[in-house]
Amino acid sequence: RTLLHKQLAGERILVVSNREPYIHSRKDGEIGVHRPASGLVTAVEPVMRACSGTWIAHGSGNADRETVDRHDRVRVPPDHPEYNLRRIWLTPEEEEGYYYGFANEGLWPLCHIAHVRPVFRTSDWHEYVKINQRFADAVVKEADGDDPVVLVQDYHFALLPGMIRKALPKATIITFWHIPWPNPESFGICPWREELLQGMLGSTILGFHTTFHCKNFLETVDRYLETRIGHDASTISCRGQLTMVESYPISIQWPPPWQGSLPPVHQTKGEILATLGLPADHLLGIGVDRMDYTKGILERFAAVERMFELHPELAGRFSFVQIAAPSRSALEEYRRFQERVHALAEQINGRFTRNGCPAIFLKAEHHEPDDINRYYRAADVCMVTSLHDGMNLVAKEYIAARDDEQGALVLSQFTGAAHELHEALIVNPYHVEQTAEALYQGLTMPEHEQRERMRSMRDLVRDFNVYRWAGRMLLDAARVRQREKLAARIG
Ligand code: G6P
Repeated sequence: RTLLHKQLAGERILVVSNREPYIHSRKDGEIGVHRPASGLVTAVEPVMRACSGTWIAHGSGNADRETVDRHDRVRVPPDHPEYNLRRIWLTPEEEEGYYYGFANEGLWPLCHIAHVRPVFRTSDWHEYVKINQRFADAVVKEADGDDPVVLVQDYHFALLPGMIRKALPKATIITFWHIPWPNPESFGICPWREELLQGMLGSTILGFHTTFHCKNFLETVDRYLETRIGHDASTISCRGQLTMVESYPISIQWPPPWQGSLPPVHQTKGEILATLGLPADHLLGIGVDRMDYTKGILERFAAVERMFELHPELAGRFSFVQIAAPSRSALEEYRRFQERVHALAEQINGRFTRNGCPAIFLKAEHHEPDDINRYYRAADVCMVTSLHDGMNLVAKEYIAARDDEQGALVLSQFTGAAHELHEALIVNPYHVEQTAEALYQGLTMPEHEQRERMRSMRDLVRDFNVYRWAGRMLLDAARVRQREKLAARIG
């Protein structure tokens, strides 16, 4: 954190993302603030706190516009301000086309191989272009004549780097793609593939979570654009702009913000079990996700069900708690998914509830980070079974929460996290039998084995924390800029 601070001293830092880190909402005449469920926000927020600057995001609360946001920007975090949040307001039509339409019905299923068909509407594309331009204008305004360091986040803003580059040729633009990048064939069905790629190549640095995603991106560019790919296979030169493509596995804040201030794990577990109406020696599993079809929640429930079939003695002794934050529910696909999740949970509870202990607790509502952390600490096993996921920070948060070095992690091989956390119980979530067995293995794992695995994973997350993620990108950006300057000098 201190290093990052030093590295950025005197620089104007701008972060751009669609999702804002704090949402102000009015309820019963009072203004409340909550933290959204977003891996992007989890990772970028501590970085922003370390380097101040301004975060530009889409305003999504219902209270801020007329009250909190009178001056176009607020200081956050609300109780301990460290940086500026500047909100961009969209009309319902703009939000529908740019966010729900092109970003979430088009790019989201396009990049995640979860077998949901992407939808591409020309009208959504036009909104996407328009809103990217609006954010680019906001960046230029915030830059105020300087050459800022701009950190562009995610698939909502593929065009933004090119637009900023046009207005601010000397800006340092670091773009991070938080979701997977698919193979060229899959990406190639997008009617605006060239425009998107061209836009992204306005970046100084383009980051993905894994080398696999970088490789897919380089192959996609090679297939669809006239560019020069460097011998090192990590730099792309396109229309005089050099972009370095590199993997930067994202992570979480370390030490965790609550370190040293929490009650012991057994106490938290006792409290959680009591709240759920379960006996003190009950076993608990936890899943924490947005209610999203990429997260493999149905497959996870099927594995819980199969585990009960294979080990009926655990019915009434084990329950699985699924926290599922409502997400993008204006979209039909998400509403249908939510119904299927509820129906499956009910069906499994019908079969395996014993002595008043349900097999599954489905908590389909928003939870604040502190609350989620208590569940992590209480759970014997955490299940992350995404069908495809850029990184998945729930896996790392669970590990960070376990300062007692206990607990087991079942982790999908299709997450970026599986490339780093080798001591997790790695599964193919499409393989119900295998996932059920991993869950059982986690529940019956001897303490010393839990400790060994957890210790090793905690070491990794501590060493490769989110400050390191940001620091590496900034260092690489400085190198590319130096190389560019040198190239310009020697012609
Ligand atoms: C993923 C995306 C983020 C997004 C988050 C939550 O992690 O990569 O960009 O913020 O999901 O989704 P939402 O649509 O609610 O912002």
